[in-house]
Amino acid sequence: MKKVYFETYGCQMNKYDSELVAGILGQEGYLLTDKVEDSDLILINTCSVREHAEKRVFGRLDALRQLKKKNQDLVIGVMGCMAARLKDGITESRPFVNFVVSPDNYRSIPQLLQKIEQDGSDSHFTLAEFNEYEDYGELFPSHTRGVNAWVAIMRGCNNFCSYCIVPYVRGRERSRKLINVVSEVERLAQQNYKEITLLGQNVNSYHDGENDFADLILRVADVEGIERVRFATSHPKDLSDKLIEAIAAHPKICNHIHLPVQAGSDKILKAMNRRYTREHYLRLAEKARAKIDGLGLYTDIIVGFPGETDEDFQDTVDLLKEIEFDGAFIFKYSPREGTKAARLQETVSEKEKVDRLKYLNEVQDEISLKKNMRLVGKIETVLAEGPSKKAKPNQYMGRTEANKIVVFDSKTPVSNQMLDVRIIDVKGHTLFGELVGS
Ligand code: 5AD
Ligand code: SF4
Repeated sequence: MKKVYFETYGCQMNKYDSELVAGILGQEGYLLTDKVEDSDLILINTCSVREHAEKRVFGRLDALRQLKKKNQDLVIGVMGCMAARLKDGITESRPFVNFVVSPDNYRSIPQLLQKIEQDGSDSHFTLAEFNEYEDYGELFPSHTRGVNAWVAIMRGCNNFCSYCIVPYVRGRERSRKLINVVSEVERLAQQNYKEITLLGQNVNSYHDGENDFADLILRVADVEGIERVRFATSHPKDLSDKLIEAIAAHPKICNHIHLPVQAGSDKILKAMNRRYTREHYLRLAEKARAKIDGLGLYTDIIVGFPGETDEDFQDTVDLLKEIEFDGAFIFKYSPREGTKAARLQETVSEKEKVDRLKYLNEVQDEISLKKNMRLVGKIETVLAEGPSKKAKPNQYMGRTEANKIVVFDSKTPVSNQMLDVRIIDVKGHTLFGELVGS
């Protein structure tokens, strides 16, 4: 039996796609391995969202080349967003890569492997066509990780935020049929998964006939055996009242929203083509917080977008302080060739970007700590995932409904169980608790 090793960069959608391809290859008799030296096939699933992500992949490919010297038959493939962006450019600079396959062409991987088998392991092929109808709707990925399974409900993106490469590498937005999403979730429930995260670049524009995203998430939350449903990512221009009501009303839909704001200044939001104002975002956050008890609100921010002055940056700092997010993922702007923003003159130096990133992280860390301290003494239900990262004996971890990590002691091993934990301490972004009743 042949063995395949996956290495995945980038977002959750990419991680889902690796599982999708693992499912396709499983049908061909491939087994998954987590030891790269043991594999017959290495698949690197790549991200193009920032230049840094692409550099890491090239570095990694160059290191993997050594393995090919030891094993002549080893096949190396590059999939994901870099495959769509750079196409033949990857095999031109790295001829030891056997195939390059973009996100709409994963069904063809078995044929590509056959061709390579026929033509020898020096051969290479590129398949980087767009197919706006491909949604892998009826396929069941091989889910492998932990207690939470990710399920793609749509692919591609139509938003064209001016900084973002996604519409150029993943193509136009398309929704998967509701019935296919529900079947995948039912199957996951049978496999004993308790938590589902529904994935799309902009889940709020999901539609299948009369059904919108709120209808879909309610159906998924009613699948027997499923205890928790999350989703990512929402666009602030599309987050509907109907969805907020659904989250507030259904006990199994987690009080957790990832709602990227990107910037706090109207001028920068406009230049980013985000199509909402600071005021709109503030009101939306306020409404969601008022309706959804204990809401965990998370965001993404880009610092150093072209034209971002000290005042614009200060608007972002003020917005963070005003909203008090539970967490923020903060990135330095990275120009991506082909996007609208890449044509703008960069005005923020690398040093200034680093300083802004650092400062904003400090501001957010303080806010997160303050908010987490308010949970001390409270009882939270966690879905236990298994031993804590530090793996001290008897120490386990899980997540609260609002997606906060809790570390706690247990005399017996716990995994994939819903447990009540009293929060007793906070360190950084991690909560510490004790099992209720112990
Ligand atoms: N530069 C920096 N950050 C970016 N993101 C998307 N494109 C870029 C870019 N060109 C960030 C956004 C997005 C997250 C996934 O990555 O904040 O929400
Ligand atoms: Fe995901 Fe975007 Fe990176 Fe592609 S470019 S892997 S869609 S984050």
